[in-house]
Amino acid sequence: MAMSPQKSSLEGRDLRRSFGQGSMRSTALAGVSIDLYPGQFSLMMGPSGSGKSTLLAILSGLLRPDHGTVHSLGQNIWAMSERQAEGFRLRHVGFIFQGYNLFGAFNAVQQLELVGRWGMNMGYWEARKKARNILDMLGLSKKKHLRPAEMSGGEKQRVAIGRALMKEPELLFADEPTSALDWGTGEQVIELLRGAARERGATVLCVAHDSRIIPFADQVIHLEDGQLKGVVYPDGKSGRPDREDERSHSSKSVLPGGEDEGWNKGKLGGRLNRTA
Ligand SMILES: Nc1ncnc2c1ncn2[C@@H]1O[C@H](COP(=O)(O)OP(=O)(O)O)[C@@H](O)[C@H]1O
Ligand SMILES: [Mg+2]
Repeated sequence: MAMSPQKSSLEGRDLRRSFGQGSMRSTALAGVSIDLYPGQFSLMMGPSGSGKSTLLAILSGLLRPDHGTVHSLGQNIWAMSERQAEGFRLRHVGFIFQGYNLFGAFNAVQQLELVGRWGMNMGYWEARKKARNILDMLGLSKKKHLRPAEMSGGEKQRVAIGRALMKEPELLFADEPTSALDWGTGEQVIELLRGAARERGATVLCVAHDSRIIPFADQVIHLEDGQLKGVVYPDGKSGRPDREDERSHSSKSVLPGGEDEGWNKGKLGGRLNRTA
């Protein structure tokens, strides 16, 4: 199911980005092409400094590339005006970052409510009900009235995810959402991200380091020195999607996985669907 199952929802082509001036100029991305698909959980891995955050920011519409194109849901996002791009992100894109970006003054319910009320034009009660449902689903029923300063790292990360899920975005980007969490909590986070793909058909791209996440992914994108080193499908196929010939003939898998068919079926679906 992981091999080019349908039309891609996000296509990045020959993406390049440098930072700095003159002799200090350094290349963060040196021409990367990548496809993401609806309903898939894509994992991006690579050493620190390999360009993962830069690529994620370019694909999600936050950082303009020096060169190359991104078609997101069929639209050429870097050809849009600032205003159009902002509208596109607001309607279609959810973000989860390492630093949580929560508002210090608001409790957990309010963090989510804000997105419903100001991002989605929900009424007060509708936003509140949905916020509570999502927090329940995230196992935060008893933490609804805590402010960020009163929460653990794992709790804050789950609130940040809840905020992204409020929008039910078609595209969901997460940059190292599990790096500050213990494995148990991190696994729950990955479950939720994968659930958004499986149950709602969202396109999910997640940067992470922990190789235990690999079996959960539909495709694993490896970056090194600003270049794509390969794409591996944990169901046993691997290839370079920028080379159609290799893609169709390659059968070598360099990573473990594939043993989790049926993993978590039903459980998360039920939980996520109740919030819809
Ligand atoms: N805003 C920036 N200004 C200057 N250099 C940057 C900036 N963002 C990233 N870089 C550089 O680009 C390279 C790739 O960074 P990044 O995309 O953050 O890598 P990763 O997320 O894989 O650790 C690094 O060498 C980094 O120092
Ligand atoms: Mg990074």
